Amino acid sequence: MPRKPPDSSRDSFALDVARGLGSAPKFLDPKYFYDAAGSELFELITEQPEYYQTRTEAELLQRSAPALSSILGDDVSVVELGSGSSAKTTILLDSFALSQDALHYVPIDISPTMLRKTADRLSARYPKLSVTPIASPYESGLARASTLVAENERAANQMLVLFLGSSIGNMEPDETVHFLKGIRSHLESKDAFLIGFDLQKDVETLNAAYNDAAGVTVRFNRNVLVRINRELGGTFEVERFAHHAFYDEETGRIEMHLRSDGDQIVHIEACGTSFELAAGETIHTENSYKYTRPIIDQLADDAGFRVREVFTDDKDWFSLALFIPR
Ligand code: AVJ
Repeated sequence: MPRKPPDSSRDSFALDVARGLGSAPKFLDPKYFYDAAGSELFELITEQPEYYQTRTEAELLQRSAPALSSILGDDVSVVELGSGSSAKTTILLDSFALSQDALHYVPIDISPTMLRKTADRLSARYPKLSVTPIASPYESGLARASTLVAENERAANQMLVLFLGSSIGNMEPDETVHFLKGIRSHLESKDAFLIGFDLQKDVETLNAAYNDAAGVTVRFNRNVLVRINRELGGTFEVERFAHHAFYDEETGRIEMHLRSDGDQIVHIEACGTSFELAAGETIHTENSYKYTRPIIDQLADDAGFRVREVFTDDKDWFSLALFIPR
């Protein structure tokens, strides 16, 4: 009898958890926040009054759409990295749909269920839109997207690549340049890359955004433990971990942690081992980098781009930077 096939995504989750909890200091990769419950909690975060990012970016997309059309021409195919629910993207598509005869949208996301839902919803909304969802990691997805865009005779072959929501903020600085260079390698000189960057600002505003009064971010942070319990057979007592999120001016990033309220031992079946936590010890669950214009210029330069335009709101809280291949 063949044995039960190994579940490779569960195995790599278990390996990552074992590595992170076996390190000093302990850490977990923020990508593990996003199971179905975590994705819903993130959506809820974006609706909190303290979390200014999402609504500010939406306002910037609204305001910059005409300028984008005039910089890029009115014949572009839109490719989105990490499209999620594509909620903000509809703002751009609304504007582009007015001036273009045909519109091609290629959302790239690792969640196939989310992609399906999004594609169906958008096709119903825009009769002249063709949607080609790609369920894949960013870079391989973009490689496929550029081939698709080049082959689509009914749509423009100029690409506008979107990477919204300051998702880039989860990457460490060296990873960021590596990531941008990878994207650059799939673009031609006529293409463009629009990136959402959350900006450095007063500490109170930043700290409040990651410590909302309704406590949604607490649930989001703890959700990674809930997930380990359910998917990997963990014994975390979730309420014994306090949410700790703060802005560090030195590194220019928000750090999120879960802090153990006492000495405790957690067993994780899929890791085949237990982990000890001392009172006050934390598990580092996320970094969220915040940017300045000089940092953005430097990133573009390091990765072979030029900054064509930076759109910011009146308070200078968030920005959309248009990178053009150099
Ligand atoms: C999705 C990475 C942009 O860093 O603000 C929200 C995730 N973490 N609240 C962010 C998050 C806590 C979010 N990003």
